[in-house]
Amino acid sequence: MILVLNGPNLNLLGTREPSVYGSDTLEDLESMCESWGADLGVTVTCRQSSHEGNLIDWIHEAKSAGFKGIVINPGALTHYSYALRDAIAGQSLPVVEVHISNVDARESWRHVSVTAGVCKGKISGLGFTGYKLAMEYLTDLLSAS
Ligand code: DQA
Repeated sequence: MILVLNGPNLNLLGTREPSVYGSDTLEDLESMCESWGADLGVTVTCRQSSHEGNLIDWIHEAKSAGFKGIVINPGALTHYSYALRDAIAGQSLPVVEVHISNVDARESWRHVSVTAGVCKGKISGLGFTGYKLAMEYLTDLLSAS
C-alpha cells in the first residue's frame, strides 16, 4: 500500500501556471497514480493538503495505517519546512520526493530541498511521470525486502 501526498497549491493543478505544471488537474494525477498502482499490484491512496500539519500527521500515521512507502510532492514546503523534514526523518517508511517541474531550472530558492536529504531520492522535472517512477521504485524496493 503506497501513500501519495501532495502539498500546498497542488490542488490548483490544471489552472495554476499551466506553462509550468501542465493542464491536467489533481484529480487527473490521482487517477493516474491509482491506475499505475493497479498495474504494479499495489493499492494507492492519494491525499492533498495545503496545510503543513496535515501532511505531518499523515506521515506520522502512515506506518500504523498499513502503508509501506510514501511518495510526496511537498510543493513549496520542500524549500523551507524543517518540520516536514523532521517528520520524514522520524519515521521508518521509505519516502520518495517528486516535483512536477524541474526545480533546478527555476529560481535559485527552488534549488534547495530541505526534505530530499531524508528521502530515498528525488525526481524532478518529469511531470506526472515522476510519480509513476517513484511508485515503481518503491514497489521494487518493497518486493526485494
Ligand atoms: C513543485 C515545485 C515547487 O517549487 C513549488 O513550490 C510547487 C510545486 C513541483 O511539483 O514542481 O508547489 O513541488
